[in-house]
Amino acid sequence: MLRQEVEDGQASLANPQFRADVLAGLDRRPRAIPARWFYDRRGSELFEKITDLPEYYPTRSETAVLGAIGGELRERIGPGRAVVEFGSGSSTKTPLVLEAIEPSAYVPIDISGDFLRESSKALSTRFPNLLVLPFEADFTRPLALPRTIAAAPKLGFFPGSTIGNLIPHAAVDLLRAMRSSLGEGAMLLIGMDRIKSADVLVPAYDDAQGVTAAFNLNLLERINRELDGDIPVDAFRHRAIWNDDRARIEMHLEATRDVDFTVDGRKFSICAGETIHTENSHKYGPRDARILLRAGGWTPIQMWMDADEKFAVYLAEAQAERPAP
Ligand code: AVJ
Repeated sequence: MLRQEVEDGQASLANPQFRADVLAGLDRRPRAIPARWFYDRRGSELFEKITDLPEYYPTRSETAVLGAIGGELRERIGPGRAVVEFGSGSSTKTPLVLEAIEPSAYVPIDISGDFLRESSKALSTRFPNLLVLPFEADFTRPLALPRTIAAAPKLGFFPGSTIGNLIPHAAVDLLRAMRSSLGEGAMLLIGMDRIKSADVLVPAYDDAQGVTAAFNLNLLERINRELDGDIPVDAFRHRAIWNDDRARIEMHLEATRDVDFTVDGRKFSICAGETIHTENSHKYGPRDARILLRAGGWTPIQMWMDADEKFAVYLAEAQAERPAP
């Protein structure tokens, strides 16, 4: 496989799926590139910075919720479950759950193996008696979990409102895939950001320090680095808009002038004002969230919010399918 040196001197694979998604996304109208490609090392660092921004409330709000409900989680979920975290990343919220419920194992799943091994090590140090089984996989498809946890009842953990990145159709597919991976009787603890005023939402995705802008623009830099691109990054600006009809924040990269560039030997032209759509972040009211969970095969059990009611955490259960009515 092709190995390329990136700017920070770190070797990285030119991912064929990244190449395919970028080329197809630049060909399409409207142009769009999936948000999952934000997270190279630089993108992951920028995202960590975003979570500390004064305008970006979701991480703080969700952490506050999880920190406050330990007793209730213990009561509702009980001990002995294998906790399966989807897209675990740096696993910063995980200790709040692990401390509350006395799990039998912890299975962090992530597509980034490096990140996964680092954070698993840190978790093992903090919970020396916990069986930690890192699992490098694309969790958007149903997966075969390690045999070691086959007999244990499962708790899926999907924090961060990551579900919001998916359009509802794909979100339902993902919830169903999780149900099939975890099995009947499993529980799911999932964070979803709530619908609120655009005056709060837009700054959360367009901060004063420009960190989110840098995060968005890093996608172009990543394309240049990994796919032999010559995109003039200074010809694009970050845009965050609230799409009220679809209840989502959209991030775009808008061309500020006509630009021509090459990626992987292919030529592209973008006119001034045209955008590349780079992310959706769907927001869900309580009823929206419950219907989404049910559509995905999960029965809502309980919902908790932070004091400002900005963010919600849902506990749901994969109950036996019951024939209508
Ligand atoms: C990691 C997908 C939950 O949508 O809020 C933050 C990503 N993008 N700022 C979100 C993100 C811009 C974040 N998620």
